[in-house]
Amino acid sequence: MEKICIIGADGFIGYSLYTRLVKKYKMLAIDNLWKRNIVTSYLDIQDPVTRFGKNFILLDVLNFSSLKNTLDEFNPDVIIHLGQQRSAPYSMGTYNDRKFTIENNTIGTLNVLEYIKNKKNIHLIHIGSMGVYGYNNLHILEEGDNANDPGSLYHITKCFDQIYFKFYNKNYNCQITDLHQGIVWGVENGNRLDYDGDHGTVVNRFLIQSINNLPLTLYGDGTQKRAFIHLSDCVECICNFLQPNGYRIINQFTEIYRLQDIANMIDINQTYIPNPRIEKLNNTLEAKNITVKSVLKNPIKLTDINLMQDKLKLPKNRNIDMECKKLWTS
Ligand SMILES: NC(=O)c1ccc[n+]([C@@H]2O[C@H](COP(=O)([O-])OP(=O)(O)OC[C@H]3O[C@@H](n4cnc5c(N)ncnc54)[C@H](O)[C@@H]3O)[C@@H](O)[C@H]2O)c1
Repeated sequence: MEKICIIGADGFIGYSLYTRLVKKYKMLAIDNLWKRNIVTSYLDIQDPVTRFGKNFILLDVLNFSSLKNTLDEFNPDVIIHLGQQRSAPYSMGTYNDRKFTIENNTIGTLNVLEYIKNKKNIHLIHIGSMGVYGYNNLHILEEGDNANDPGSLYHITKCFDQIYFKFYNKNYNCQITDLHQGIVWGVENGNRLDYDGDHGTVVNRFLIQSINNLPLTLYGDGTQKRAFIHLSDCVECICNFLQPNGYRIINQFTEIYRLQDIANMIDINQTYIPNPRIEKLNNTLEAKNITVKSVLKNPIKLTDINLMQDKLKLPKNRNIDMECKKLWTS
């Protein structure tokens, strides 16, 4: 294995993964820069050419002929597809935001699958979401294609992805790893970091609120549980899953926590706002992560010391608006 292409390389996970893989592999970094064009990162990030040099190609995965030409030229062994609209709140916005999310994510995946379907040697790795299972289940979730209760249009696209993958594996024997991932937390200098009510994710938002002396915003009563993984563990896992192994789903998370318990580790300055999501509070999320446990011997845990270490990497006093403005039922 020599060559790896990351689609969505300019993003939060993509850039961190790229900097790790480029030490060992020939890399191609694809991104259409949609994210950096619509939302400013809390941390300063270099322009893509400085970040990736000649390895960067500005490309929209929705443009199949450009994607095909670019990939034909590079001839990758592995494609890591991260180039999707990944905000659940954004996907519940205006009609145009909803339509964009569905088109961008589902046609993007279709294009990547159409490309690999006649190229048996390419392994596709994709990051899905633990949210495809929903947060109302009482049973223990296995690693498997039992995604049936998405909480947003974004999560619906991840369910589509899973059905696409199963089908393309069955019909064309495509080699696909779908990582049903928990919420990624962690601060890395030089990497993008989202903070606003739409694109910021929960632990990172708490850290940014805390460093700026803003109250941590909890939705509902804060008893909802979620699955989590640290950014460097997420990258470590992907590096361990590069070899193809048929069609497989891996639950990529290390811990499950109530949001309230994480907030208490970070700051007592907290505020509660009505939950914009339709979900059961105090849910009993339980899930298996056997594969990840076998790969990560010492995962980075959500402890006050580890959280403080990441918080201290953040600059203070940025003039930012962190409010969540959407109600998903409107
Ligand atoms: N960050 C998390 O907590 C988390 C949790 C679960 C799953 N995921 C998934 O992991 C993947 C990466 O997430 P992230 O946090 O790095 O997101 P991100 O938004 O920071 O990065 C995604 C990148 O993809 C690019 N992109 C979007 N549409 C594209 C298109 N049509 N063509 C080319 N590039 C496109 C964006 O410009 C952006 O740079 C996403 O699929 C996301 O759904 C992330």
